[in-house]
Amino acid sequence: MELKNKVAIVTGGGTGIGKATSLALAKRGAIVAVNYSRSQTDAEETVQQIIAEGGQAIAIQADVSKDQEVRGMVHAVAEQLGTIDLLVNNASITRHIPMNDLEAVTDDIWDELIDVNVKGMFYSARAVSSYMKNNGGAIVNVGSIAGTTGLGSSLPYAVSKSAVHGLTKSLARALAPNIRVNCIAPGAVATRWWAGREEQMNRLAPRLLLQSISTPEDIASMICSTLEQEALTGQIITVDSGQTL
Ligand SMILES: NC(=O)c1ccc[n+]([C@@H]2O[C@H](COP(=O)([O-])OP(=O)(O)OC[C@H]3O[C@@H](n4cnc5c(N)ncnc54)[C@H](OP(=O)(O)O)[C@@H]3O)[C@@H](O)[C@H]2O)c1
Repeated sequence: MELKNKVAIVTGGGTGIGKATSLALAKRGAIVAVNYSRSQTDAEETVQQIIAEGGQAIAIQADVSKDQEVRGMVHAVAEQLGTIDLLVNNASITRHIPMNDLEAVTDDIWDELIDVNVKGMFYSARAVSSYMKNNGGAIVNVGSIAGTTGLGSSLPYAVSKSAVHGLTKSLARALAPNIRVNCIAPGAVATRWWAGREEQMNRLAPRLLLQSISTPEDIASMICSTLEQEALTGQIITVDSGQTL
């Protein structure tokens, strides 16, 4: 699928991997709705950067864990930009808890992570699917190697990303043949996700087969290729500089 003139929503599209994806999609000629929940300035700066580079974009607020907000956002984007062809389900949160500290995992933490990371991606896919049904569309969910290794910033985060991988396969079945659904599972990526833990991230680099931490642009480029690839659905694609081999 050519991305030129396609309308894309990128959740959490104003920071980190989401921002790099918004910019990469716009470079390929897509019209981008940059979603944010709190980071309004980042989303607006991303839109300004796209417009300055000759592209088209809007910023739009919605908390992806709230179904009504997601439906409102999707409706507003379709009204303003004509339709929706592409969705990048990138928005997620985590909590840092040692893996073996099971007592620190409260119900609130479970609920928060599952609501944003899993149900948020489901709500967004469901809301865009009615617009994609007739003309076709493509969705990429951002998973994580935490979802395949079980090891991550916390147990609920790793489990939420396993659920994202499962959601990808189930949605690929549910939405075929007109809508393709795939997942990119990054290893460590240098973003604000590691804020306050930069040293831990940098210690990882020499241990990776490719000896450098992936950039947001590396992941964004894979997300764009996956959206383009017509013969791909239900796949979890690891992009981790050899971290898990
Ligand atoms: N960096 C890594 O090492 C790494 C590794 C594997 C996977 N990932 C995944 O990559 C994705 C992007 O992370 P990142 O590294 O780019 O970090 P990031 O900059 O913190 O990105 C997270 C984005 O999610 C948005 N978000 C969070 N809760 C939201 C909500 N309820 N509604 C709407 N948006 C929400 C944030 O926007 P607001 O501030 O506006 O809420 C932010 O833009 C995530 O899915 C993460 O799990 C990252």
